Amino acid sequence: CLAFGNAGAQGTYPNHPISLVVPFAAGGPTDVVARSLGASMAKTLGQSIVIENRTGAGGTLASQHVARAAPDGYTFLIHHNGMATAPALYRKLSYNPLTDFAYVGQVADVPMTLLGRKDLPADGMANFIKYAKENGNKINLANAGLGAVSQLCGMLLQESLGVQFTTVPYAGTAPAMTALLGGQVDVLCDQTTQTIPQIKAERVKLYGVTTLDRIKTLPDAPTLKEGGLKDFEVKVWHGVYAPKGTPPEAIDKFNAALRAALKDPVFTQKMAELGAEIVPEAKQTPEGLQTWLKSEVDKWGGVIRKAGVYAD
Ligand code: MLT
Repeated sequence: CLAFGNAGAQGTYPNHPISLVVPFAAGGPTDVVARSLGASMAKTLGQSIVIENRTGAGGTLASQHVARAAPDGYTFLIHHNGMATAPALYRKLSYNPLTDFAYVGQVADVPMTLLGRKDLPADGMANFIKYAKENGNKINLANAGLGAVSQLCGMLLQESLGVQFTTVPYAGTAPAMTALLGGQVDVLCDQTTQTIPQIKAERVKLYGVTTLDRIKTLPDAPTLKEGGLKDFEVKVWHGVYAPKGTPPEAIDKFNAALRAALKDPVFTQKMAELGAEIVPEAKQTPEGLQTWLKSEVDKWGGVIRKAGVYAD
């Protein structure tokens, strides 16, 4: 019989709702993936998964919270590339992504899109590049803080254009998108899991996608590479984590529910509509996530140190 973290409780794990921590605002791209995933996994686990949005400091407050949570099988974290970029971006990080967690598996990969507010006076990538160079820091670029993929994409964009925009951070790209729609900011680089509905409704200007190849859900959208940004590529990946010391039986059960969700048509169809791609089976395992995380920490560490972007 498996029962964790609930002294005196009878029954098998899980015997009460599980918390899945999301490091960004409700309604945003990470939240969209987490809520659909949680709903599907709950069917396998026989317990609900409660989404807990813990925002701040580009996702690092949520990671810190989970690193320090009771390792009882009832607290998990879903996070993206930010798990790997944080050690280079934050000089005083209170946790180590490579040693302070138990690893469950990866979920889906998501392209990003470069968007402008609807009335930005630049149509198409060539005009956007010209406009960006002429206006520089008069342009407001929204992001979700240091450690957000919107920040990572914006950093690569500015480097690639050789311009410096004025950065406006939000608690997630849900409020950043609201600001873009309201014309309070000019530019946002954000994941298709949030941007596709806005693009299809023509509420924003789409300049391109951040993958090396065009994507099925937006076949007419050029890649930023086609638009003239050499080698430009950002792909968002998602991992599920638990506090280090979480019982292996709980990790196994949570991982089995994760893998079942990645085959559940309700989840996979929703992801496909939003441009996300379920990861291959080798990445759906604890080892698959851990190996990938290590390679990403190494990759982005180098890029970020070269760009010289960090918080003290
Ligand atoms: C979000 O869920 O708000 C985004 O993933 C934030 C980001 O990393 O850009």
